Amino acid sequence: MKRPLAYIAGTGHAVPKQVVTNADIAAMGVDTNDQWIIERTGIRQRHIAKHGETLASLSAEASRQAMARAGVQAGEIDVIILGTATPDHLLPSTAVEIQTLLGCTRAAAFDVAAACSGWLYAAIVGESLIASGSADTVLVIGAEMLSTIVDWTDRNTCILFADGAGATVLRRSRDRTAAKGVLSSFMRSDGALTELLWRPAGGAAEPFSPEVFEQKRQYVRMAGREVFKHAVRSMAEATDRALDAAKITAADVDLLIPHQANVRIIEATAKHAGISMDKVFVNVDRFGNTSAASIPIALNDAVEQGRVREGTTVLFAAFGAGFTWGSLVARF
Ligand code: ACO
Repeated sequence: MKRPLAYIAGTGHAVPKQVVTNADIAAMGVDTNDQWIIERTGIRQRHIAKHGETLASLSAEASRQAMARAGVQAGEIDVIILGTATPDHLLPSTAVEIQTLLGCTRAAAFDVAAACSGWLYAAIVGESLIASGSADTVLVIGAEMLSTIVDWTDRNTCILFADGAGATVLRRSRDRTAAKGVLSSFMRSDGALTELLWRPAGGAAEPFSPEVFEQKRQYVRMAGREVFKHAVRSMAEATDRALDAAKITAADVDLLIPHQANVRIIEATAKHAGISMDKVFVNVDRFGNTSAASIPIALNDAVEQGRVREGTTVLFAAFGAGFTWGSLVARF
């Protein structure tokens, strides 16, 4: 096991005030129902942004909580990394807007695009900056406004995706013999199957145009069944690789916090890893799939429920569009 260079010093999360239930979506005229959504996904409700709630404002709220818990002042943050697929603006990064809201005047700030693996990729970048000596304290955020890129008439996607922000403060380990902190990490991508889950238009390759809007090419498109298969396979590889690299086994894991996409993918991942469901954190029922935000929201939820405490060993695993996937083991 490598000696930890960085540890997670504080967590926080913020979600929009508005709760949208499965019945609410059916009432909007979408051909779906509560029973189908619960059986196929495990989702019961999600938070959807409204009036003035932005990616930056939710991220700042989550970050203030994480910084307070870590005992870190705005001026101590060296770097802000935001994992997101739904920035407030295409230019500049939303991380710099968060920096301004938080008053982290001496930080460098940038976004990382890795879809649902966004927080995990950002956390690995943050740990690497600490390892290289470039930073001591890194604010790592995962946040999404997926409601803004979903076609609310497409039942394949609109029942799944939601909004929210989760934040974590990563700090340089003071006592490297303490075995507290990031024990291993793994990240991988495969761009060959991009079109199974993507937004065809709105970027430089196909800018917004009347034709784009007419064909709804600005929205997320997903081949659900195919994505499901790849998600199960990749999450299995991710858990194996992080455990191997940390030189621990599933028996050493106190809690698995997987990306919250679908409870069936989570169950398959836990089964493959040999981790019983009582050691798996699930909150997709309350938050839906918040993509890059899902792991840091789940982590903070687990901290608040007392399921992550001093000494808890957590295995994180994510999978997202790209495809991207990855994992990380951390001891608290
Ligand atoms: N409500 C009611 N019926 C529906 C709905 C809906 N919202 N959506 C599809 N159906 C119907 C289909 O039309 C189909 O009907 P048919 O049998 O008459 O053809 C039937 O339900 C079964 O459809 P499937 O697509 O086979 O359903 P499946 O069990 O695969 O569940 C789901 C669909 C939930 C999308 C699943 O494939 C899934 O979770 N895929 C992974 C999606 C995911 O996690 N994406 C994100 C991962 S990466 C990231 O987070 C960005």
